[in-house]
Amino acid sequence: MALLSSKLRYLLLFYALFQGIQFGLRWKSYDISPKQFKTIAGKAAGAPTISQSMSTLTSGMKNYYGPIMPRHIEWHAIQLGGLSLRIYPMLTMFTEFAAAFSAPFPTSGRPGLHWANSTCTVLKGKVSRFNDDTQDESVDTFSSGMVFRHGQFESYVYDLEKDTFVACYGRGFLPISSTVHVTSGISLGEPLSVLKFYIAQVGNYWNALSHTLQTLFQHYKARAAGEL
Ligand SMILES: *[C@@H]1O[C@H](CO)[C@@H](O)[C@H](O)[C@H]1NC(C)=O
Repeated sequence: MALLSSKLRYLLLFYALFQGIQFGLRWKSYDISPKQFKTIAGKAAGAPTISQSMSTLTSGMKNYYGPIMPRHIEWHAIQLGGLSLRIYPMLTMFTEFAAAFSAPFPTSGRPGLHWANSTCTVLKGKVSRFNDDTQDESVDTFSSGMVFRHGQFESYVYDLEKDTFVACYGRGFLPISSTVHVTSGISLGEPLSVLKFYIAQVGNYWNALSHTLQTLFQHYKARAAGEL
């Protein structure tokens, strides 16, 4: 009886936590507009070379979201469930991310289930994927300029052709998503690249957070002064 009730207590605690986060995600305000991101990524996909695509993407994002973006963005190594990719993190926060991914060589794998909805635009190359949740055997293929959505708790196997670049924006409870990144990196013997990535992200978190707090402070200061 005592055992059952303690198990029940954990279950209830997890349920309450899940509902609490779900509620928070629904009511939170977000910094990036998915529509604007898609427009910028679409423009980037139309550029003639990949270096022009990447600069269109970066400058387009900086136009709108400059203050919350890292001043200096660089490529990092990332392992996601067998996918050997590079990531170009334009924004990484607890509930939002915007990043480009590239596959310098053909790679396939299952990046796992995420508590986040992500939308990706193919900038160059080709992405194929197989949905694990459906019974049919069809494979979806997306080429340059096409958009695909990876919804929360959906599972796919992906295959990226050599020299594929995608730009993604996602919303959700992202600390959970870092578990696949961290465990994949460590299991492939790459703890240092994981560490390097998160050390860089800590600086970015702080930058974005301090901007948000500053805006909030200005808002309340103006309100207190009767200007709003
Ligand atoms: C993801 O999308 C679904 C369906 O549109 C929505 O119900 C859910 O709240 C979204 N999740 C997050 C974390 O935004």
